[in-house]
Amino acid sequence: MYVQPADAPQRKPVTVPRLREMKARGEKIVALTCYDASFAAHLESAGVDVALVGDSLGMVVQGRASTLPVTLDEMAYHTAMVARGISGALLIADLPFMSYRNPEVALESSARLMARGAAMVKLEGGDTWVCEVIGVLTAHDVPVCAHLGLTPQSVHKLGGYRMQGKSEHAAARLREQAQAVAQAGAELLVLESVPAALAAQITHELAIPTIGIGAGKDCDGQVLVLYDMLGITPGKRPKFSKDFLAGRDSIAAAIRAYSDDVRAGRFPTDENILG
Ligand code: KIV
Repeated sequence: MYVQPADAPQRKPVTVPRLREMKARGEKIVALTCYDASFAAHLESAGVDVALVGDSLGMVVQGRASTLPVTLDEMAYHTAMVARGISGALLIADLPFMSYRNPEVALESSARLMARGAAMVKLEGGDTWVCEVIGVLTAHDVPVCAHLGLTPQSVHKLGGYRMQGKSEHAAARLREQAQAVAQAGAELLVLESVPAALAAQITHELAIPTIGIGAGKDCDGQVLVLYDMLGITPGKRPKFSKDFLAGRDSIAAAIRAYSDDVRAGRFPTDENILG
């Protein structure tokens, strides 16, 4: 039975402006993916700042080979479940593949996710058309998190789940795209699987906070896929992740350890850094 935990810390809700404040103060932002109310309550108890209803749910919850088949209905369903377990964390929901293919569709899709409790939506890429979508969403008061580097919805174009931004040319392009999404109005930027030095440079160059996954320790915050960091996902864990449940006796302790380690700059270590 799902019961609201009594030990959830009383805290001021994490808001969009608070994320910028955290960057300015050098306070690390702790983010985790989340797909249901029970896990959301654990994130809340551990004081996690950002709960991301990622379309990674297509892979880790639904057992699919990629995030591409995830539908907006499914994202709305999981967003509503997570919203019931969250009180202080900022809830971000992923816009799934093709649900933001033009500004009109993006507005409709975002409205559905925000009606289910999302405070921000996340979309992938930094091309001109994506920036245009970000601009329109922002103009309609939809806060946007951009996502650059390894963008899983582009897996077929990229030719696999591999590190991005390795060549000088690719790194320069990523830096340009980071500026472009921020200028378009994005409030937050996820950097996935990019060299640590490049992520550090982008983080330094942007006024908005960056959240890294496989992007080194110098981003303004860190995010992991919840099922990876609890050792639930079958198969080989990505090098940039870590099983925080190993050696601990509860999910609560594992999430708290992750939170503490990100805040104290103890995660990621060199062991979890790519390239
Ligand atoms: O879908 C997801 O879980 C994500 C994170 C990996 C950042 O986009």
